[in-house]
Amino acid sequence: MKNYQITQWCHHFIREQVSAGDLCIDATMGNGKDTLLLSELAGKDGQVLAFDIQPAALVHTRELLDSRGHYANYRLILDSHENLPQYARPETVSCIVFNFGYLPGGDHTKATKASTSIPAIAASLSLLKKGGLLSLCIYHGKDSGTEERDAIFRYIRTLDPRRFLVIASSYLNRPNHPPIPVLIIRL
Ligand SMILES: C[S@@+](CC[C@H](N)C(=O)[O-])C[C@H]1O[C@@H](n2cnc3c(N)ncnc32)[C@H](O)[C@@H]1O
Repeated sequence: MKNYQITQWCHHFIREQVSAGDLCIDATMGNGKDTLLLSELAGKDGQVLAFDIQPAALVHTRELLDSRGHYANYRLILDSHENLPQYARPETVSCIVFNFGYLPGGDHTKATKASTSIPAIAASLSLLKKGGLLSLCIYHGKDSGTEERDAIFRYIRTLDPRRFLVIASSYLNRPNHPPIPVLIIRL
């Protein structure tokens, strides 16, 4: 068994989910690690739409995909993720990934926040096709991310169990506010 850090844990299920030819979305591009994974899994006939509000994220992600990616199947978009429905049709997306928080090595004031994350999650759910996966990595600490975490949990608890399976995992024996991986499957 691997020592699953949160992104490895989520990547495990993303790998299970995405097939060649799929449409995928990275809703928080950052330095591009999730975009790279989705691009590799979707392959030459698939497509990845990746979003961030910071130009630096697009620069870092382009560098990563130029050096490590194999497919020109991605579009890097400087826009906020609550505008996702402007870029994809309902019920067409296989996998949508959110990695909340701030750009590693970047401006902490540009972190994700509940007021835009909740509309973005709601929009994502309408874009998922049947059997589609929404992966959320939730980071929270003593003084940051708690409001967003609470708002996300309040919202996802209300989802209709006939339409969505919602699974939150926890690192029970890890100290200091370990991150929380959440998977939502469109039934
Ligand atoms: C934790 S980082 C993402 C890490 C990334 N997945 C990676 O592999 O490096 C969170 C990112 O979300 C971005 N962000 C914050 N608010 C956003 C919004 N409203 N729409 C899209 N991206 C946003 C930040 O700029 C930051 O780059």
